[in-house]
Amino acid sequence: MTDLVVRRLLVDMEQPIERHWCAGDAFRTAFFDALSMSFPLGEQFFIDSVRDGFKALPPDQQAHFQSEVQGFIGQEATHRRLHDLYNQHLARRGFVNHWEVRARQRLQLMQGVDVRHWLAITAANEHFTAIFADWMLRNPDLLGDRDPRLATLWLWHSAEESEHKNTAFDLYQALGGSHEWRVRWFRRITVTFLSETLLQTARNLRHDGTLWRWSTWKSAASYLFGRRGLVRQTFRPWKDYLHPDFHPSRHDGAAAERWLAEHRHAYIPVGR
Ligand SMILES: [Fe+2]
Ligand SMILES: [Fe+2]
Repeated sequence: MTDLVVRRLLVDMEQPIERHWCAGDAFRTAFFDALSMSFPLGEQFFIDSVRDGFKALPPDQQAHFQSEVQGFIGQEATHRRLHDLYNQHLARRGFVNHWEVRARQRLQLMQGVDVRHWLAITAANEHFTAIFADWMLRNPDLLGDRDPRLATLWLWHSAEESEHKNTAFDLYQALGGSHEWRVRWFRRITVTFLSETLLQTARNLRHDGTLWRWSTWKSAASYLFGRRGLVRQTFRPWKDYLHPDFHPSRHDGAAAERWLAEHRHAYIPVGR
């Protein structure tokens, strides 16, 4: 069981977000903004999956998971709230969240489906966020220093994603979810997640007027495939999920622990 602390982040999300807040880089800014657009709806789905999965457990198992599930829900609810404020700034500047519209349509297909499918989808997304989070915590300089508030927001979110990466996976296992379905959903989520991220990023860039600039594509290539590139460095941990003996705790969470220990001034623990 993981002990999860809910933290109130001391950042002012009421202040507007500047155009290229991420190191003055159009691609990186559009990419992070796209991810932020996916969170309010996505994280509500994760909360619902975990809450319903918990309810489906026998009472003795519920006692085992209770505080972890509470912590998970508290953390994701806090992420949702702050990213919602973030997204409101984007909406005021005319950015349209197409990702959420499509995700809402897919969600309708999930109504009444066995909770283990919900949890398999959540566990797959949580693996994605955990490996991305770990990569980001190891490369914090790529967020730049133009807006320390947003850098803190992304790194805090990353640290908590790394911290609660076991929860949905463990509930799925406790409910007897199969390896076959876990991997099947992971493959589907990989395709959906990557295509939605890239589509929304491209739309954000088009709205920003920087989609067809050479510098944008150069930045994308180095951010994704360069020496420290996201795709290059997360491919291995991505692939680990396919292994029948995989468990998220096999990936070390030291970068998250370090960030949380070194940034105590940036948050107030509000509960467990
Ligand atoms: Fe989150
Ligand atoms: Fe999460």
